[in-house]
This record gives sequence, structure tokens and C-alpha cells, in this order.
Amino acid sequence: MRKGYEKVVLLAVFFLLAIPVMVQAMGWFRAKLPEAEGKALYEYITQTKPYEKWAMWPGKGKLYQGTEPHGALLTTYVNETALKGIEKQGGELADGAIIVKENYMPDKTLAAVTVMYKKAGYNPEGGDFFWLKYTPDGKIEGEGKVPMCIGCHTAAQGKDFLFTNDKK
Ligand code: HEC
Repeated sequence: MRKGYEKVVLLAVFFLLAIPVMVQAMGWFRAKLPEAEGKALYEYITQTKPYEKWAMWPGKGKLYQGTEPHGALLTTYVNETALKGIEKQGGELADGAIIVKENYMPDKTLAAVTVMYKKAGYNPEGGDFFWLKYTPDGKIEGEGKVPMCIGCHTAAQGKDFLFTNDKK
């Protein structure tokens, strides 16, 4: 009888000690996401977690037909958080979601890369997105709360400033 009781107490103590460790580990895990800053985000999607290895936007393959202003042909990659939002939350993206879109010219040369990065609390009026645009050689042409990006994407009928949601 007593033996059993001690076991329970030991187990309880073990779990109580384990909780802070787990919370800490989750903190490290989350901390791996970049700051809302152009260079940090660029390094994350090109080096830390190269986006070419991510999933593509569900239902879209490589070099699908795009519209103005992004380019004639597009390839759009989504990280796991973004994929979950698109597939399971009807396009509502959670903190940490990243969408990377390659914009090609009609002859299939890459013209620019445009990125949307969801950062909770970053810019509530603009859907909490950090916007980034860079050239194929990595030169950043726009970053942050870019009025031009936000201005147009506000018109997206689907959820969360996303246009590709609308086109089923
Ligand atoms: C004049 C309107 C317009 C402007 C300005 C604009 N976009 Fe877009 N964006 C679109 C449309 C439309 C799509 C859907 C893809 C397509 O058909 O081209 C899109 C798609 C995207 C996507 C894929 C996710 C989605 O919404 O479907 C990203 C990422 C993106 N844009 C980033 C940007 C960034 C970064 C900027 C600013 C540098 C920007 N966009 C400026 C219209 C715009």
C-alpha cells in the first residue's frame, strides 16, 4: 500500500519538474523563427529552412499562371504553419506562417521573390503580416509594413489578405 503511494508522489514530482523543462524547450523551438526584419527573414528562408524544400501552395504546382503585379508565372511555397492554416483553418494563418512566392517573367526567368510572414502583434491593421520583396540576387527592395503590398492585399476576398485562397 505505502509503496504504491510513494510511486504516485514520485511520479507527480517528476512531472512537476518536467513541465518547466518542456516550456523552456518550446521557447527555444519558437525562438528559431526570425525577427520581423528583412535580412533575418531572408536568411531564414534561404539558409536556415530553405523554402525550396517546403510544400507548395495546395493545388498549385510550379510556374502556374499569375496576374499583375506579381508576374506571368508563379511558384508559391508555404511553411508547415501556413500549410495548416490554408488546409485546416480556411486560410486563417497562425503566428509563424510564412508564404514565399517566386515571380517569373514569361520566359521563366526569376524576376523577384515576395514573402508574407505572419507575426502576431506586428501590425494588427495589416493582418499582422511582415512583407518582404527581394531580387534573385538577394537585394531587398521592400520590407516591413509596405503600404503598396498591404493596400492591394486588403482587397483579397478570402481570409487573411490572401488572394490565392479566392481562386479555387
Ligand atoms: C496590385 C495588387 C498587388 C500588390 C501591390 C501586391 N500583391 Fe501580392 N498578390 C496579388 C495577387 C492578385 C496575388 C495572387 C497571385 C496572382 O494571381 O498573382 C498575390 C499573391 C501574393 C502572395 C501569395 C499569397 C496570396 O495572397 O495569394 C504573396 C506572398 C504576395 N502576394 C506578396 C506580396 C508582397 C510582399 C507585396 C509587396 C511587395 C505584394 N504582394 C504586392 C496582388 C498584389
